[in-house]
Amino acid sequence: MTSQITLRRPDDWHLHLRDGNMLRAVLPSTATHFARAIIMPNLVPPVVTSADAAGYRDRILSALPEGSTFEPLMTLYLTEQTDPDDVAAAHASGLIKAVKLYPAGATTNSASGVSHFDSVRPTLERMAEIGLPLCVHGEVTDSDIDIFDREAVFIDRVLDPIRRTTPGLRVVMEHITTSNAVDYARSQDETLGATITTHHLVINRNHILAGGIKPHYYCLPVAKREEHRLALRDAATSGEARFFLGTDSAPHTDANKLLPCGCAGCFTAPNTMSILAQAFEEDGALDKLEGFTSLNGPAFYGLPVNEETITLTKGDPVTYPSHVETPDGPVTVFDPGFDLNWRVE
Ligand code: NCD
Ligand code: ZN
Repeated sequence: MTSQITLRRPDDWHLHLRDGNMLRAVLPSTATHFARAIIMPNLVPPVVTSADAAGYRDRILSALPEGSTFEPLMTLYLTEQTDPDDVAAAHASGLIKAVKLYPAGATTNSASGVSHFDSVRPTLERMAEIGLPLCVHGEVTDSDIDIFDREAVFIDRVLDPIRRTTPGLRVVMEHITTSNAVDYARSQDETLGATITTHHLVINRNHILAGGIKPHYYCLPVAKREEHRLALRDAATSGEARFFLGTDSAPHTDANKLLPCGCAGCFTAPNTMSILAQAFEEDGALDKLEGFTSLNGPAFYGLPVNEETITLTKGDPVTYPSHVETPDGPVTVFDPGFDLNWRVE
């Protein structure tokens, strides 16, 4: 029985760090275990220009714990006013590693996102030319589309048309939640990748709604039926290069989660590696964990793999603090609902 595994240090290919007090409070949780992370640009106001991204990067670096070598991989928030030249310059200088597409209104702080996909075509074409990936929040926002169907409908109505009209564009389907997304990813060539979160591997929609409403399990895209969770588990543990970890760790204070209209997001940064080890072991796939957390993402982004390693040891249940404190109040750490036996050394 395996009781210890050593992996190349993992990266997180989709992370919300926020800014100010929240940034300072949550950054250590990621920087402790992860070498790099793709940093989501949905601040208020969003990170839309290369100057915004440079400023945000500096704030992240100055919030890092002493001696940390964590590297934030910056992104720009795509708007209908985005200047393709600014994007290309930010890419050429090495400042950004991706551009993020939020359909307007799809999720937290997405009001400046895209409504008319034709208006961003020049930027997408430029990105295809220069090999800069587009990270996609794949949900339609039409009020007449059921929230549980929004990902599947997005694939047909928006994603597939973008893929067809912008050949060569590297696309990451982010935080996929359905078997439809798994199937679509598998139908595409190596220019398409897909991230899977920690929480979508371990919860389905019953966790949110059965036996009382659980705001800390509410995120977007919302968790779906069990059959979809199983499809995600199969994808994550398959070893296929197109699937990699993007935790979508999305901290909100409890005060902002526990409201009549509470925020979407699960805060998984502190215990993600323990949860993943538990899940991969349960599926007899511990040997696929390193690919998912540490190899497939760098390969998609054309970045070197990390030379450092981390070791996880199996033993008595490990506990994580239930909250991370911030000056604005506590942030609840995601509770997977089962014991965690894998400790990060
Ligand atoms: C994210 C957030 O809070 O910024 N929330 C979430 O539920 N995942 C936004 C996002 O990635 O959709
Ligand atoms: Zn996110």
